Amino acid sequence: MRLIHAITAAAVVTAIATAPVHAQDANQTRSLAATCTACHGTDGISVGGVPPSLAGQNKDYLLQQLKDYKAGKRPATIMHQHAKGYSDEQLERIAAYFAAVKPGTATGAPRAGN
Ligand code: HEC
Repeated sequence: MRLIHAITAAAVVTAIATAPVHAQDANQTRSLAATCTACHGTDGISVGGVPPSLAGQNKDYLLQQLKDYKAGKRPATIMHQHAKGYSDEQLERIAAYFAAVKPGTATGAPRAGN
């Protein structure tokens, strides 16, 4: 009986100890992804599709584009510089983040006077 208590207690301690780490990872990924939204729109849904929306795109496709920009394989005006600022692991997390966002239509800011 004592052993079972000890195992249960160990499992609870492990669960408590690892939970905040996952939460921190999610926050870090959100912060990384936030650097993209200035240009690619809130949640990666761009206004009018320029630059392209990232939301809901295939993760492997996104990651490949980012790696190609980083390596200078895909020509770009901006993205080759931007992609160089991240490790491959960070790019993978960012790609997974945007792939998981539901695609939608951005309406943009309301126009004054209309
Ligand atoms: C300063 C504005 C800007 C920022 C910030 C920015 N992008 Fe871009 N992005 C662009 C532009 C412009 C293009 C079109 C290619 C080019 O000219 O660089 C593009 C293209 C892309 C593409 C290719 C899309 C496709 O459909 O092929 C991907 C993927 C991408 N960006 C991902 C990201 C990610 C991820 C981040 C954040 C880490 C990011 N971008 C941050 C401006 C930006």
